[in-house]
Amino acid sequence: MAIYKLIRPLAFAFDAETAHRATIAALRLMPARKIPAFAPSLASTVAGLRFASPVGLAAGFDKDGEVPDAMLALGFGFVEVGTVTPRPQAGNSKPRLFRLAEDRAVINRLGFNNRGQGSALERLAKRKRTGIVGVNIGANKDSVDRIADYVAGVRRMAAAADYLTLNISSPNTPGLRDLQAGDDLVELLAAVVEARGAGGPPLFLKVAPDLAEGDHERIVRAAIDRRIDALIVANTTVSRPPLKSFHAGELGGLSGAPLKTLALDALRCFRSASGGEIALIATGGIENADDAWARIIAGASLVQLYSALVYQGPGLALRIARGLAERLQREGFAYIAEAVASE
Ligand SMILES: Cc1cc2nc3c(=O)[nH]c(=O)nc-3n(C[C@H](O)[C@H](O)[C@H](O)COP(=O)(O)O)c2cc1C
Repeated sequence: MAIYKLIRPLAFAFDAETAHRATIAALRLMPARKIPAFAPSLASTVAGLRFASPVGLAAGFDKDGEVPDAMLALGFGFVEVGTVTPRPQAGNSKPRLFRLAEDRAVINRLGFNNRGQGSALERLAKRKRTGIVGVNIGANKDSVDRIADYVAGVRRMAAAADYLTLNISSPNTPGLRDLQAGDDLVELLAAVVEARGAGGPPLFLKVAPDLAEGDHERIVRAAIDRRIDALIVANTTVSRPPLKSFHAGELGGLSGAPLKTLALDALRCFRSASGGEIALIATGGIENADDAWARIIAGASLVQLYSALVYQGPGLALRIARGLAERLQREGFAYIAEAVASE
């Protein structure tokens, strides 16, 4: 944190997207480092995968799968790359990424800018496969058959992914969130499960925090019926809790501190709808070990973060992991799994 405090004003002197590109470029230049060791109490098995720490990097930071190993080396227990779409796409016009520093938040309307699944696959296929790297897949904006895009993504990316996440909750691809509704969701899940086949990686489903009453039960039922392995709760919000920053009025998905309450509420709704029948992964506004702990005791087996990294820098994942290990000890739990849903 001390070093990042010095670097941060420099990074913040650039617009958010330029600073992000520079960060990825710097991470690519970093010499390869080993994954750090974590307290044994932090290890858990979720969806058949062994996680050394429950603190993961959320999708969107490494959209093209350029730096998963650098992020694992920084102390993330798992890294989700993507969203990648079948074909490359430019995303929305710039500016489309905004820091809301006073709110410790971000608004983005990037619109799945990425170099396509082929390009990510090429890079990921060269990895040594140490540490858990998931691949988050989406549909192209101009796709005429979005379900077919997810099926193509599953087929293409399965070989390079420890798990696959179906992102049907980005607010920046018009109509994408409609896939969360009724028949479309049932059809999507049936198609991707078939495409994944028996030996493929676990499938996670990432949902929006902006759901109506009854949606949670419906999504949970569809996911359990199709044996989806976990729900990621949640993506960015289109709602606007009170914000102070200059960019508060920008269109797009809001993430970071103002999403905290909404994401925790959504997690509790999913936990009560599922009664523990499906694993939950919490994301949205997690800034410290207390936030991560609140999600775990509310039912999350794992957590992910992105926005807080912008404000707190690269030591954050390790700090949260250490804080969680201390918390487990203080509360008398031997393992993280014992604390899940214990509130
Ligand atoms: C700049 C930015 C880009 C994102 N891109 C994606 C994406 O491509 N796919 C996705 O599933 N989520 C994406 N997200 C959402 C995050 O994965 C996460 O769900 C959300 O930001 C809430 O977590 P946070 O408050 O810790 O940032 C993005 C978030 C941000 C801030």
